[in-house]
Amino acid sequence: MTLRVARYAVAPRRDVAVPRMRIAILADLHACAPLVNEARVKRIVDQVQGLEADMICLLGDYVGHSWGMRPLTPPEVVPHLARLTAPLGVHAIMGNHDWKDDPVARRGRAAETFWHRALTAVGLPPLSNVARVLEAGGVPFTLAGLESQRAYGRRIGGADVEAALQGCDPGLFTILLAHEPDAFADLPDHVDLTLSGHTHGGQIRFAGRPWMVPSRFGVRYAYGHLSEGTRQLVVSSGIGTSGPPIRLFCPPELTVAEVG
Ligand SMILES: [Fe+2]
Repeated sequence: MTLRVARYAVAPRRDVAVPRMRIAILADLHACAPLVNEARVKRIVDQVQGLEADMICLLGDYVGHSWGMRPLTPPEVVPHLARLTAPLGVHAIMGNHDWKDDPVARRGRAAETFWHRALTAVGLPPLSNVARVLEAGGVPFTLAGLESQRAYGRRIGGADVEAALQGCDPGLFTILLAHEPDAFADLPDHVDLTLSGHTHGGQIRFAGRPWMVPSRFGVRYAYGHLSEGTRQLVVSSGIGTSGPPIRLFCPPELTVAEVG
């Protein structure tokens, strides 16, 4: 089944050169069998590739921990992600479930998990509190990535916004990849666009309201495209599930941000 694609137009809200591009976002794959098995991962990757994006962003939670499901292992998932290509690259960050999948690394507050290492091995080193400068149509821009804000526990994160943005030119259009959208609330004004997942849009919705959102801001950053001052946030509802293996009135999606 083809996934629905949520599309958002993102125009800068401050005086800054615009790197025009299409960004495809794959969030919260939560690969686990049989719900999001290897065959489905392959089909999803094919659909992402078909979006003809200039840049592809993978927003973490590659592994699924839904009730009654078997979490897939990196060798079952990562080779499929490695097939993705885009002119401005494929960029990955990590989610809290990727940490949860490696309890030794999580308990020991290690710098990385076996998911980090598997992604790095196929040329997708996670952007963990680092940034790089890229160029779209001759316009340079900053792409930064945060480590999960829940890497070591519900309230113990690995995210370091200051480190991620260290040395970045605030005069460039700046995109931040942050698995959990909560970081958005306290970002500096020059972070023009934040791309997040994690919430699953609530996963289960009643009368348009999310049943449960794993955020200290409740439903404020649950889903969609919103702005605060000059900063904009796009939250994808992602693909999979956590906890109950169902989504209700909140379908899985791929997300596209058209910057320009
Ligand atoms: Fe998550």
